[in-house]
Amino acid sequence: MSTLEAYQSSFDGEPGYLDWAAFGPLSPGVRSEVHADAELLGSGRSSSIDLVADHAREARSLVAELVGGQEDQVTLQPSTTYGLMQALYGLSGAVLASSAEFPSITVSLTRAAEALGRLSPRWIAPEGGAVTPDAVREALDDEVTAVVVSLVDFRTGYRADLGALREVIGPDRLLIVDAIQGFGVIEAEYSAADVVCANGYKWLRAGRGTGFAWFGDRALERIAPVLSGFTGTDEELPLDEVPRPSASASAFTVTNPDTLAAARLATALREVRDAGVAMIESELSDRARDVILSADRFEIPVVTPRDAARRAGIVALAPSPQDVAPLGAALANQGLTVTARAGLIRVAPHVGTGAETLRLFSDALAAFAQSRVW
Ligand SMILES: Cc1ncc(COP(=O)(O)O)c(C=O)c1O
Repeated sequence: MSTLEAYQSSFDGEPGYLDWAAFGPLSPGVRSEVHADAELLGSGRSSSIDLVADHAREARSLVAELVGGQEDQVTLQPSTTYGLMQALYGLSGAVLASSAEFPSITVSLTRAAEALGRLSPRWIAPEGGAVTPDAVREALDDEVTAVVVSLVDFRTGYRADLGALREVIGPDRLLIVDAIQGFGVIEAEYSAADVVCANGYKWLRAGRGTGFAWFGDRALERIAPVLSGFTGTDEELPLDEVPRPSASASAFTVTNPDTLAAARLATALREVRDAGVAMIESELSDRARDVILSADRFEIPVVTPRDAARRAGIVALAPSPQDVAPLGAALANQGLTVTARAGLIRVAPHVGTGAETLRLFSDALAAFAQSRVW
């Protein structure tokens, strides 16, 4: 069995699931890891407890490998939002972001500004929510110290061009990336970023609680560890006196990680690493293209970019307002799971989305088209 076939065959859920951008059903490997580690943690043997604890180091090392950084630059976090908050609360100056970003960015940035008064959001509202290099260039001035952006937009599926954004902002500003909608499924230019945050419960199939954040050298120099907890110092357990936060990325942690979550993350990342992100991206791109072609066949507008380099696994359909409910109903009637929100229907296949699911999708669109009133 080829690596691709092995990865594809690990998608063992029922046909009809097209909602990987919301939640990724756990891989079989992740599920068995949970059982094995739960048994180890129940054994009362310290060697078994240590064995499970080592998954935290393993997960950090695998994140570092996939980001192209070092293990000591990676922190485990409860979620993407916690990682983003660690970065955003430590900024000062004007921080540029689209007001259409997922609230992990908009709410965290606003709260950080309100609480600390050292930073202020610089909102942009680019057309279609796409944070393009041009949209950022237009809004830049000397006050802007950082840009926060989603690698893949949760609504439209637009994939940001991290390398081009770095060129626009220059070497002195920070680029903070919310990578949850693309990590492990597209090859991103993380070397252009300073902070990369994500979580494993969608595309990585690791379940919730598997967040992480990578802090590059520039981020470690410039971002104040405002939300630093007792694991954020260079002492193993700082008692009686309170030391300064560590100069390493561990400063951006609050307490010790959930080792069961780390075990899930490590297993999921190993599966991705072994299959290869390039192969996953190429397969996922084909699945997304299949979804786009079906939509085209039935004349349903698609707002996701057609250029494979500017999209990942999310395809957003934008039916006319009167078509949203009937289209949603047609998809549900075929047993398909998608996300319908604010006039868009988000379809998110994964590499293991098989012909049966794509046929159900096409049948649903056909049924909708037949009943459509022009
Ligand atoms: C772009 C984006 N960022 C952040 C989140 C929330 O991530 P977490 O639950 O890991 O905090 C989501 C969830 O859908 C998302 O789509």
